[in-house]
Amino acid sequence: MEKIDDILKNEGDVNVSPLRKAWQNEHIGPETAEILTEDEKYFLKQSLSTPCMNALKSAKGAWIEDIQGRRYIDFHGNNVHQVGFGNPDVIEAVKKQLETLPFCPRRYTNRIVVEFAKKLASLTPGNLNKMLFAPGGAEANSMAIKLARIVTGRYKTISMWDSFHGATLDTISLSGEAVFRKGIGPLMCGDVHVPPPDIHRRFMDIGKPEEWEILWAKYIEYIMEKEGDIAAVISEPMRSTPYIPSKEYWQIIRKACDRHGALLIFDEVPHALGRTGKWFTCQNFDVTPDILVIGKGLGGGVFPIAAMIADEKLDVAGNIALGHFTHEKSTLGTAAGLATINYIEKNNLIEHSRTLGAYTLEQAQKMMERHPLIGSVRGIGLFIGIELVKDRTTREPAAEEAEKVMYKCLSGGVSFKLTMGNIITLTPALVITKEEMDFALGVIEKSIEEVENGK
Ligand SMILES: Cc1ncc(COP(=O)(O)O)c(C=O)c1O
Repeated sequence: MEKIDDILKNEGDVNVSPLRKAWQNEHIGPETAEILTEDEKYFLKQSLSTPCMNALKSAKGAWIEDIQGRRYIDFHGNNVHQVGFGNPDVIEAVKKQLETLPFCPRRYTNRIVVEFAKKLASLTPGNLNKMLFAPGGAEANSMAIKLARIVTGRYKTISMWDSFHGATLDTISLSGEAVFRKGIGPLMCGDVHVPPPDIHRRFMDIGKPEEWEILWAKYIEYIMEKEGDIAAVISEPMRSTPYIPSKEYWQIIRKACDRHGALLIFDEVPHALGRTGKWFTCQNFDVTPDILVIGKGLGGGVFPIAAMIADEKLDVAGNIALGHFTHEKSTLGTAAGLATINYIEKNNLIEHSRTLGAYTLEQAQKMMERHPLIGSVRGIGLFIGIELVKDRTTREPAAEEAEKVMYKCLSGGVSFKLTMGNIITLTPALVITKEEMDFALGVIEKSIEEVENGK
């Protein structure tokens, strides 16, 4: 079998694997094949996208449909589909906005952008009341780091190995995955990395397993003490399912930041809004960051928009351009965002995320009792991970098995992303019904069983 770069496997499913080729041979018809060939002709190849796997025709609610009419419940959706693809309220709001003020040039503001900011400020915890918008999560993280540098007069950051904060040069410096960092040349200086609070992958045999994450929280404070000039700790409050730290972990780091004059920045780009059963993930940990970064689903799955929301006391950079993005006061993005929030409220999607998430987690735990290939399951709200391992004691990742399960599920109408190569990551549209979830869990379990039986 062709050897695949192990580095690629760490991020997720690989776009050049023999299993993908085999799946395509079985499922891709001539019309799709033609689009895929044209895609490869005009788009630069890059890991994890072109060459692409398949071509889509439509997306509605929790589902996507390919050109050949095959439908899949989308448990990935790049995390833009909280209110479902093609949400009618969002589409209507954007259409209305297109007819009045489709764009707002710099030096002007507009009613919809202010309304959206006011609504967001009313939902965020603490004094997270002042914000700037950006076209994407990477740019919003970039603004957060700039603001932290200006506020503290320092430039060093602490971030986590295995993390992802965007694909721009500054955000890959913060991120901790070789697939984005290797071979690129000098990154930002002052980016200190620490191990993530992953109690399942303890790479050293020190301390008690249950104390592992606290050890690293204390190590973060140790670095702050030794360096003396850390500007900020930046992290996802929970990494997209490999691990969910305890409240204590974040509370230790919050206090350490306060003691050492560093800011705490939470990157919740893929989480917002409501995915974890609260508007914002940090609310699950009873910790309020100094800067909260959100994106992806913020634009209702139709418009690229992200936000850096800062504690109002950090409004101190009036003479520096933090963002200066062409679309910073985007009328279409904010119309889509406001409609998204209203839809979530009107349809109690946060409550739904909590209850259906708890049910799904329970079903996944029961599945684990029936299948030795499952090493652990975890999640908050509709943010759930099912980890596949070769052996529950050694916890060796079952990456090849996970890839097989993924392609079997695709054949069965269920699409998801593999995180770290072996974690089935379930981040569905929050409009997904219990029946749809039961269908998907059935396909996943059948696929796991077949792989366990060597099929
Ligand atoms: C945690 C996290 N931060 C930042 C980003 C970057 O967002 P964008 O692709 O909108 O730049 C992502 C995207 O996957 C992400 O998962």
